[in-house]
Amino acid sequence: MAVRFSAETHKRFEEVLTRYPTKQAAILPTLWLAQTEFGYLSPDAMEHVADLLDLSPAYVQGVATFYTMFYKEPMGQCHVQVCTNLSCTLVGAEKIVRCLEDRLGVKVGQTTGDKVFSLSEVECLGSCGTAPVIQVNDDYHEKQTPESMLSLIDELAKQAESASTPGA
Ligand code: FES
Repeated sequence: MAVRFSAETHKRFEEVLTRYPTKQAAILPTLWLAQTEFGYLSPDAMEHVADLLDLSPAYVQGVATFYTMFYKEPMGQCHVQVCTNLSCTLVGAEKIVRCLEDRLGVKVGQTTGDKVFSLSEVECLGSCGTAPVIQVNDDYHEKQTPESMLSLIDELAKQAESASTPGA
């Protein structure tokens, strides 16, 4: 099904274009706008971006596929991204991943059945001095342990449940 930016997102897209020398150079922020609007970059969303920027859908798909920050499939409400690069791994990131897999009942790369959590491993989040680092949506959680992550997951699960309970 064809998708299009909302009027508000389209306005933001036009503002973005003013900061770049050519339309095509604005591909990354435009993909970001598309992900924000549609939740992930479906083939239709990428086609819309291609139309807007006068690029081929294959080119847009190639760029989107290169960056892990762009999701090619729907993600859970909370995207839990564990950095498993060297500094984080040296101080226990792998243990945190295993612990999250057990708690959530999914493997890395999967989303829970209730669509609340998606679990990913990612490359360096640029905060090696406070390893291990986990990013949940836009927030960083630094110097984490399996225990602190389990508390955070419990808290996020509670928030998701009350948000989905009418009148809560
Ligand atoms: S290695 Fe994890 S933040 Fe850099």
